[in-house]
Amino acid sequence: MKTLVVYYSFEGNCEFAAKIIARRLGADLLQLKAGNEPPSGFGKHLIGGRAALRGEKAILYRINKNPESYDVVIIGGPVWAGTIAPALREFMISYPFEKKRTAIFASSASGNASSMLKRLKTMLAGNEVLSELSLKKPLRHREQAEEQINEFCDGLLSAFSVSEEAAVMRAGEAAEEMVKAVEGELASMVAEELRKRK
Ligand SMILES: Cc1cc2nc3c(=O)[nH]c(=O)nc-3n(C[C@H](O)[C@H](O)[C@H](O)COP(=O)(O)O)c2cc1C
Repeated sequence: MKTLVVYYSFEGNCEFAAKIIARRLGADLLQLKAGNEPPSGFGKHLIGGRAALRGEKAILYRINKNPESYDVVIIGGPVWAGTIAPALREFMISYPFEKKRTAIFASSASGNASSMLKRLKTMLAGNEVLSELSLKKPLRHREQAEEQINEFCDGLLSAFSVSEEAAVMRAGEAAEEMVKAVEGELASMVAEELRKRK
């Protein structure tokens, strides 16, 4: 199962989570970077929050991995003004994909990522969202965050193994049907041959 973890992280929290998730799932990592991020010091909340609320366009750096060529795409980013940060929003608009198995994660200062995750899910229409994870300042509460991230990964790994088992069973059933069909064909050929010899 080819898995990609796509994330945007302005201050390292989502990066911390994305790296653990990618390691646990054996996934490739795609970090989003924008050329027009807010300044990192004073004013970042105002400038970045306003850009997020207004749905301003982010100028993304070159993307070197295509989500279309993966079976599973995990997506994460920070909550900005209650919503999706422009870089992640831009990625979702510019690199649309469908019929993927996905999971989403967010990091926030308040611990409330519900409306951001809801928007992200809306942008993922046409895909299956298997699971979601909301982290509160994971870099500050590492142990608790690691526990949550591991639980998230365990859930995904068991969902993948269930679907693989189902695929193996479907393949087994198809093979059985084929054998039955061949047996039926052979039996009628033998019967025909015997009739001719009589
Ligand atoms: C521009 C901006 C806006 C933010 N708005 C919110 C917010 O509305 N709610 C919240 O809980 N945290 C908010 N935060 C805090 C971040 O969501 C939080 O620090 C998150 O863990 C950052 O993730 P990152 O380190 O991966 O960038 C905001 C931070 C920035 C820079």
